[in-house]
Amino acid sequence: MLLHIPEVLSADQVQQFQNTLNAANWVDGRASVGRQGGRVKQNLQLPDTAPEAVALGKVILLALQNNPVFFAAALPARFMSPMFNKYQNGGHYGFHVDGAVRLIAGQSQSLRTDVSCTLFLSEPEDYEGGELVVSDTYGEHAVKLPAGDLILYPSSSLHKVEPVTGGTRLASFFWIQSMVADDARRTMLYELDKNISQLRDRLGDTPEVIGLTGHYHNLLRQWAL
Ligand code: NI
Repeated sequence: MLLHIPEVLSADQVQQFQNTLNAANWVDGRASVGRQGGRVKQNLQLPDTAPEAVALGKVILLALQNNPVFFAAALPARFMSPMFNKYQNGGHYGFHVDGAVRLIAGQSQSLRTDVSCTLFLSEPEDYEGGELVVSDTYGEHAVKLPAGDLILYPSSSLHKVEPVTGGTRLASFFWIQSMVADDARRTMLYELDKNISQLRDRLGDTPEVIGLTGHYHNLLRQWAL
């Protein structure tokens, strides 16, 4: 599932993020990838331990915890701390698949990457190019969202960032281990949940709505790891 979640951050928060990130010390993005990624990646990143990354990452995780659409779509079990990147001067990241398992910084635990997220932090009109292109069974989807909006996609998908040929593109990216590893199952649960919510808004808690809600939870109970 490729899902656009609007306004994860407010306009004020976006402004604050831009101010902080514009003053931060960026390093070569190849520091954080394996050999395949390193050959196709040309961008800048904040180190995991940069105080700006730590502070802004917490703001993002808090915003996501209060976002019911995000919760229903990702069914998060564990989060990686959000990371930050910057593309300019032709910076790009060619087609790649994100590593399946990542170590959580500062912990001995690892995380299976089920859901990938990109949170756009620059307005689309502030840079040329820079589309996130996600490839799935329906073809290639180019995504370029307003600052503060998030795109969620399966970590198993091939994706790339087109060259930024003018201006600067700031974004945050991070991974989630979901309670439901399989994207098809997660998508079905999301659709079921969305339809039940709409039925509840229209009809109230009728016996059928309660029955379907029970069905949702019983499926989640079957599939959750
Ligand atoms: Ni990636």
